[in-house]
Formats: sequence, C-alpha cells, structure tokens
Amino acid sequence: MSQNLLRPTIIAGNWKMYKTIEEAKSFVETLAPLIKRSQAAVYLAIPFTAIYSTVQCLKELKSSLVLGAQNMNDATEGAFTGEIAATMLKEAGAQFVILGHSERRHVFHEDDALIHRKVRRALMEDLQPLLCIGETLEQREKDEVERVLSHQLRSALADLSPEEISRMIFAYEPVWAIGTGKVATPDEAQSAHALCRSILREIAGSEIAEKVVIQYGGSVKPENATDILSLEDIDGLLIGGASLSVETFSQILSLANKVRSKALKKMDVTT
Ligand code: PGA
Repeated sequence: MSQNLLRPTIIAGNWKMYKTIEEAKSFVETLAPLIKRSQAAVYLAIPFTAIYSTVQCLKELKSSLVLGAQNMNDATEGAFTGEIAATMLKEAGAQFVILGHSERRHVFHEDDALIHRKVRRALMEDLQPLLCIGETLEQREKDEVERVLSHQLRSALADLSPEEISRMIFAYEPVWAIGTGKVATPDEAQSAHALCRSILREIAGSEIAEKVVIQYGGSVKPENATDILSLEDIDGLLIGGASLSVETFSQILSLANKVRSKALKKMDVTT
C-alpha cells in the first residue's frame, strides 16, 4: 500500500514545553535551508512565547515553514488568568493550533465539549485546528477503539459544516504510544486511520473525507517513519520528542519526501 497523493503530506512537530525563544530561532535557522525543496509541508507547534520572534525569523528566511500553537482558550477574551485567545495567537503569527492533544485531555482534564468549543473558535478566527484523537490502552484492550474515535470526532465536529471540516487537520495518536516508545503496528495504525476516515465520511461526506489529512502520532522516529508513512490512510506525522532535534526532525522529513516521491513514481508507471 502507498500514500494517497490526492492529499498533501504534512509533517508536524509538537515541541510541548520545550525551547526558549533563542533555541526556537536557531532551530528554524538550521531547518529552513534543509526544507526548501520539501514536497511535504512542515508545521511546528511551539511555545507561545517563541511564536512572534520565530515567525519574524521565518519571514526573513523566506521559509514556508508553518508555525502554530499547542493550545488556546475557547473564549474571545475575558478574565481567564493564564489563558490565551485565538486572536492573540493569530496576531503573533500562528497559523494553526493543536487541539484535543491527549496531554490536554488527560493531564488537564479537557472534555469533549470544551474541545468542540475550541475547534469552533479556532475556525472562526481562521486559525487551522489540528485536532488530536486517540484511545487509551485500557480502551483498546476493551475493544473500544471504534466507539472512542467515533465519539471524539463526532463531538469535536458537532454542528460544523463540511467546508469548516475541510479546513482542519486530524491526528490519530493512540495515547499508549505517546512518549512511551511503543508504536502501533502498521495494521493497527492503518485500520484506525481507515476507521477515522469512514467516520469523517459519515460526518462530512466522501469528498471531504478523501481530502482531509490524517496524521499519525506517537513515538515516531526515523526508524519507523517510512513504514508508517507508506500506509494508505496516513498522510503525515505529528512528532513530539523526535521533533526537538533538528537532525532527527529533518531526517524524518527527508524520509517523508522519499515516500512521497516513490508514490509519485508509482503513479506515473501505473497511469
Ligand atoms: P511523541 O509525542 O512523538 O513524543 O510520542 C507525540 C505527541 O505528543 O504529539
């Protein structure tokens, strides 16, 4: 099986609570020249404090690297100590925002209703939501993968139009694979992705479901990136730990480019 070329490949890094402004700038200065000809789009979700200066740095470098945030509040503004609004992220230069990450769901107890409100707010402010979904190990062992993914998708996307859904990115991240070194087998990953796509088909129609990007996330490294990216319904990666080093992250990017070129060549031969 190989990638579906109707969809772009998007490789995203999620830095979590790592890197200062200076570290972020020096990271993108090293990365930008390496991805000039990348066929895969490159996204980085970085700490709030580093967004503005890193965006300025990318403008000077004329880089297509897309910068975003890892969370936001669902309100426009208000007395919410310590929170950040979508408009503030946009003003700083963020183009996308990760929502519903498992650490937000499980460590900070964000529920589906809140994630839904955040998705709506991000779309309203023209900030691209990168919505994470995924089951825990306990849910997988109880054979609840389908129920959990369906519930997470349906509640996050409730009342959204197909057009709004088409502006989003999705990431399937099995909670048991995040930061643990455990990776879903190709069969587990492909079947969860196909399941997400079929749920999206029911929610938004076939045309949109075929076009949206569904990334895989959870302990992705250069050693497993090619196998994961070669699967039919996997259109990119959301990378935590391995996105913190330019060497490792750019290694994964070059593997993603190879997978895409191989799929393009295959398409040339068969058409
Ligand atoms: P990991 O994190 O690659 O370190 O497992 C993935 C994520 O949290 O998005």
